[in-house]
Amino acid sequence: MKLSFFYQFNHYPLYMKNFIASPTKMGTLLPSSPWLCNNILNNIDWKNSYKIVEIGAGNGVISQYILQRMSSLASLDLYEINNDFIKILNQIDEHRITVHHRSAEYLFGDYDIVISGLPFRSLSKKTGMKILKNTRERLLKNNGSLILFQYTKGCESMFSRYFHFTKERVYLNVPPAWVYTCKPKLD
Ligand SMILES: C[S@@+](CC[C@H](N)C(=O)[O-])C[C@H]1O[C@@H](n2cnc3c(N)ncnc32)[C@H](O)[C@@H]1O
Repeated sequence: MKLSFFYQFNHYPLYMKNFIASPTKMGTLLPSSPWLCNNILNNIDWKNSYKIVEIGAGNGVISQYILQRMSSLASLDLYEINNDFIKILNQIDEHRITVHHRSAEYLFGDYDIVISGLPFRSLSKKTGMKILKNTRERLLKNNGSLILFQYTKGCESMFSRYFHFTKERVYLNVPPAWVYTCKPKLD
């Protein structure tokens, strides 16, 4: 799979269709921009990250950038609930990827890195908290990190229930986003 603007551009109609059908689960009209994808991945220690999962993978736009950076020995699990996107993700010809047609609520196993595209602001609070609690547990054994992005700062109290975090602004995205790097709270 090659990184290209057209990969994103081709899927604009699919994002719009699914946003109209299910705005709370999509949370956005457009795929993440190259600048946002790169910013999400910039602070990851790729040499020491072998078990990686992306939750809310959409069309795999961030997955493409992850594959470029991750070790040849690392694995990437993709969790997604939308049928249209599952079809696209299943077409990725890459042995390091496993696609899971399953909600991130049911993430299992231990991970070094969890990358999230989930729209916590529009998901129900119950679902969001369940995902955050489970994600923390999945990261504890390996002292891993959760990297996520949001378009507003409105979910910080949810994140701080289970994580310590730092954040960075990315303007070159529609809409501009906040990228959060989160470490699990130990207590
Ligand atoms: C904001 S889009 C992000 C898509 C892509 N990662 C990107 O950056 O363009 C959110 C994605 O999360 C998916 N999603 C929503 N709830 C989910 C859940 N509980 N488990 C897994 N994926 C979910 C949606 O279907 C959608 O593809």
